[in-house]
Amino acid sequence: MEKKYLSTQLIHAGRDKRYTQQGVNPVIQRASSIVFDTLADKKHAIAHRHQHTLFYGRRGTQTHFALQDAMTELEQGEGCALFPCGAAAIANSILAFVKTGDHILVTGSAYEPTQDFCQTILADMQIETEFFDPLEGAQIVERIRPNTRIVFLESPGSYTMEVHDTPAMVQAIRAKVPDAIIMIDNTWAAGVLYQPLTHGVDISIQSGTKYIIGHSDHMLGTAVANRRCWPQLRERAYLMGQTIDAETAYQAARGLRTLGVRLKQHQQSALQIAQWLKEQPEVAHVLHPAFSDCPGHVFFERDFSGSNGLFSFVFDQRLTDAQLEAFCDHLQHFSMAYSWGGFESLLLTNQPEQLNRIRPAGKVSFSGTLVRVHIGLEAVEDLITDLAAGFERIKAAQ
Ligand SMILES: Cc1ncc(COP(=O)(O)O)c(C=O)c1O
Repeated sequence: MEKKYLSTQLIHAGRDKRYTQQGVNPVIQRASSIVFDTLADKKHAIAHRHQHTLFYGRRGTQTHFALQDAMTELEQGEGCALFPCGAAAIANSILAFVKTGDHILVTGSAYEPTQDFCQTILADMQIETEFFDPLEGAQIVERIRPNTRIVFLESPGSYTMEVHDTPAMVQAIRAKVPDAIIMIDNTWAAGVLYQPLTHGVDISIQSGTKYIIGHSDHMLGTAVANRRCWPQLRERAYLMGQTIDAETAYQAARGLRTLGVRLKQHQQSALQIAQWLKEQPEVAHVLHPAFSDCPGHVFFERDFSGSNGLFSFVFDQRLTDAQLEAFCDHLQHFSMAYSWGGFESLLLTNQPEQLNRIRPAGKVSFSGTLVRVHIGLEAVEDLITDLAAGFERIKAAQ
């Protein structure tokens, strides 16, 4: 296929005529029962049920196939499994490849529920999780044991934004244990700003709830696997009953059409605000992968094609509860929410000791309060005015 620019690819991905039936978008096919007129039709469906032939609702309908094709193309894999949310995609992708007695390596900067899943459900199955420093690079190989089955990455890391040297890690792991399964939570890149499968990662997982859906109104998880891992991921996710409704699949495919322009605007606005924050005397650090002082920035420059609206900054002091309230409770454009990737601006605050509790491999190097911001599609001027007023309220609450 002719090589296209991302914005063009996003317009076309998954819009095969089989799925669009002369419309522009895929049809919304709601179905549990798929009816067969003849025994021969049923036999055909059984034989081709892995290849986007209608078989039973849980295997997907035309709407699901369109989204799966789109994600597979965008992330350059062999197939895409769909899950009801990102957390389900993470848990089920891991479960598809482990058994009792295995050891798995997980980045210490992983999304907190990923860590919790490993420390509760996997621990109950006698699967041992070892966390590693996200900046460890090729040295991760020293942690590999004969029973290491999975290496789970996330880049940039949740809250603290460290970028892995993924190619070096993959190369080192493969040289020692060719069979290990390497997975990455690729949500920050929306599956498009970074292409981990081209660096030898086996499975790229994302919470489609974020930028793919893009409007904070549906939940989705995707896992795109390479040829080696796709059959096992596909069949085990099916056995675990993982599926989504046709409406969500439709909305996700619809979200892809504007993903390129949305990401560009999120990137531009976030960079402007990050730069403004860097110039404020009360800000000690801006943790944005595109900034040279962000840990792993060189790998970001080398491996990513752009950035988005999500980054963090750290105050030069630990804010008191009164200061936090003064800052957060009167913001006009930023809401507090455990999510990001929609059109709206959001933030969350974290004290260093709260971060250290969710960083099992290496403590944070700062002592001030961290704020994670998601820069939405509002005017940058309004967002800066809002933050500046918040900074003034902090001073007044001192
Ligand atoms: C990096 C990352 N991965 C996974 C998830 C989980 O996604 P979901 O909320 O769709 O389950 C989130 C949610 O915030 C996230 O930030």
